[in-house]
Amino acid sequence: MTQETLSIRNNSTGEEADFDLLKGTIGTPVIDVSSLNKKMGLFTYDPGFMSTSSCKSAITYIDGEQGILLYRGYPIDQLAEKCSFLEVAYLLMNGDLANTQQQQHFEHEIGQHAMLHEAMRSFIDGFHYDAHPMAMMVGIVGSLSAFYHSELDMNDPEHRRISAMRLLAKMPVMAAACYRHSIGYPFVYPRADLSYCENFLNMMFSLPSQKYIDKDNYIDPVAVKALNLLFILHADHEQNASTSTVRLASSTGANPYACIAAGIGALWGPAHGGANEAVLSMLEEIGTVDRIPEFIEKAKDKNDPFRLMGFGHRVYKNFDPRATIIRKACHEVLESMSGSDPLFDLALELEQYALKDDYFIEKKLYPNVDFYSGIIYKALNIPVDMFTVMFTIARTSGWVSHWLEMMAESGQRISRPRQIYTGNELRHL
Ligand code: CMC
Repeated sequence: MTQETLSIRNNSTGEEADFDLLKGTIGTPVIDVSSLNKKMGLFTYDPGFMSTSSCKSAITYIDGEQGILLYRGYPIDQLAEKCSFLEVAYLLMNGDLANTQQQQHFEHEIGQHAMLHEAMRSFIDGFHYDAHPMAMMVGIVGSLSAFYHSELDMNDPEHRRISAMRLLAKMPVMAAACYRHSIGYPFVYPRADLSYCENFLNMMFSLPSQKYIDKDNYIDPVAVKALNLLFILHADHEQNASTSTVRLASSTGANPYACIAAGIGALWGPAHGGANEAVLSMLEEIGTVDRIPEFIEKAKDKNDPFRLMGFGHRVYKNFDPRATIIRKACHEVLESMSGSDPLFDLALELEQYALKDDYFIEKKLYPNVDFYSGIIYKALNIPVDMFTVMFTIARTSGWVSHWLEMMAESGQRISRPRQIYTGNELRHL
């Protein structure tokens, strides 16, 4: 088959050159402009990566127009219904679902890697009690590079795999440790006999509140199921800002724990993973249904920086399939755990109001996954400032999968964008 090409013509000079059109298994064709500078002495300009593919990847596919999200080819709704988070993590990291034996081995290994070095506890103790848990997570995850540096041979696939497993295994332990530190409660060690989500709830809530864990060690299955679902929905989302940050940092050959810490920093912002926390704050600020029109007007006002948090997405221009799943789950979780939540009722009213508004219709702004995720986390008694940390735990499975994928590629190059220089021309003192 002949390679399809596309010509770029400089209308000022008449100069023209051909560029290959690349096609993935599915999805929009891509112009390979890597030789543009060599052929035409030009660079491309695309701030915010509105039309730019930064890599090839076989992990996740999104069709924003159709509202499709596939992990390794499987639709998100099927995975959410039939799999555990660790089954999905195995799938993302390895390309296929595990058989029973492989999955058991994987989960056993996660249990083995969950323990934190005791010295990390004094590191955590160094944070002020009211530090934001995302700030603590950036520091703690970055510090793993101090604990596991000398033994790491980045050229050895097994070393890389173990680093990825460590990150996945330790993330909920570090997250729960941050929470316990913030409320002054003692650290709870991970237990190898509990599932990933049970373990997390146990490390967060055992002893002091007994919220999910009663004296017979019973952990509420509704909470476990809800957490599992949220972790699956947040596990990966192709080249989003935090994953791209992990890839960019990794392109320098940096230690993987430092690269994931960079990703956590990128996730924290309210335009990305920080949106779930921002949605709850926004709903609390709106307070009552009668104030919805006022906030919708604020969101539409060009002179007001306020945005309707949990609305809009760079890729989804029809609906976010994760939001559809999570909206349904909100009803189920609230019914079974707390009966209702006035903030969820308010969120539903706000959603309906916005969906009928011309501004939101014209700009194709729909509720995204984080419009609802905070409602479930709140029902599970997770504090609001821990919401983005929850996202971090889940997204670690995606970050490490992308890291493994890119590190296994041959001919890796450092990521180094260009710029349009707008400063002074050469001048002298
Ligand atoms: N409320 C009001 N107006 C909005 C919103 C919003 N939530 N989102 C976008 N717009 C407007 C924006 O002002 C712009 O208008 P104009 O064309 O007149 O300048 C237009 O819609 C396009 O917006 P954009 O900022 O160019 O779109 P983007 O693709 O760069 O940004 C986004 C996507 C998610 C950052 C943005 O929609 C947003 O800030 N949403 C609120 C934060 C949020 O919920 N983030 C979570 C995303 S899902 C979790 C994740 O995967 O990270």
